[in-house]
Amino acid sequence: MRIAIVGPGAIGSTVAAHLIQSGHQPLLCARTAFDRLLVQTPKGQIDATPVVLTDPAKADPVDWVLVATKAYEVEGTARWLQRLVGPETRVAVLQNGVEHVARFMPFLPADRIVPVVVEIPAERSAPGVIVQRRDGWMKAPAGVNGEAFAALFASSGVDVATAEDWASVAWRKLALNCAGAVNALTGLPAGIAAKPEIAELMRGLVAECLAVGRAEGAILEDELPDQVVAQYQASPADSVNSLLADRLAGRRMEWDARNGVIARLGSAHGIDTPLNQMAAILLSAME
Ligand SMILES: NC(=O)c1ccc[n+]([C@@H]2O[C@H](COP(=O)([O-])OP(=O)(O)OC[C@H]3O[C@@H](n4cnc5c(N)ncnc54)[C@H](OP(=O)(O)O)[C@@H]3O)[C@@H](O)[C@H]2O)c1
Repeated sequence: MRIAIVGPGAIGSTVAAHLIQSGHQPLLCARTAFDRLLVQTPKGQIDATPVVLTDPAKADPVDWVLVATKAYEVEGTARWLQRLVGPETRVAVLQNGVEHVARFMPFLPADRIVPVVVEIPAERSAPGVIVQRRDGWMKAPAGVNGEAFAALFASSGVDVATAEDWASVAWRKLALNCAGAVNALTGLPAGIAAKPEIAELMRGLVAECLAVGRAEGAILEDELPDQVVAQYQASPADSVNSLLADRLAGRRMEWDARNGVIARLGSAHGIDTPLNQMAAILLSAME
């Protein structure tokens, strides 16, 4: 099985390390070169020297491409897809948000794109050097492609399953992520959710996500806004979500995949989403 991973950052490298440990030899398609992969997982360190390419022109078609770039990195990712995708290639998109398929439909048929919800807390300190904080999971939609994706990880340290109602899994994750805009906007970690007025603002962001998600066909509980706030309040007060981490590090932020999408799809359904719209506008202005 020929597997290529485009974007070997925190998630791409962690997934690569687990695939290597279970006997695969993924090709890493990187922007920044590195020689050695060093991933500290909850079950020990994985140290490997996979093949790393930085020039798409040197890549050939593979069976599977796993895309683990940030959601806004479509153009750069597409340059790899032009070389890696053949007539049988399937592309799994390991990114946040709910637009995994739409994002890559211009580059290959939708029925060969496998959207994946990723719940693996991982941080990168240098190219190829990653800490995976806890055991993680990934979910792909039920069906032939989803099952084939899960099979790649059959004897690996990552729990990969399929979900009949994948859209609801993705929207539930988006609900958690959209509320995190409050942290990036204030520059403050999770503890800020203890303030009643901040908790109310987070509930409002999630309520908009809930309404748009339902209009898109997701099955979401009325309690979702309270659940999300409770989750932030139960996190260590100093924990930093990736949107805030990106802002603090001066990197681009996934505001469109986390808040902009709710405003865009909301508008298509005639649903007002003023809070997510404002969050997306302010976060984009900060860049
Ligand atoms: N990290 C987590 O805990 C976590 C958890 C769940 C979901 N996610 C989602 O997973 C996705 C990936 O996040 P991440 O945290 O892994 O981000 P990341 O650490 O920034 O990794 C992204 C990688 O993509 C590379 N890249 C950018 N443009 C490229 C190009 N044209 N060709 C090849 N590689 C390119 C970057 O290269 P450079 O080395 O040059 O920067 C970087 O290595 C995001 O959608 C994120 O929201 C992350």
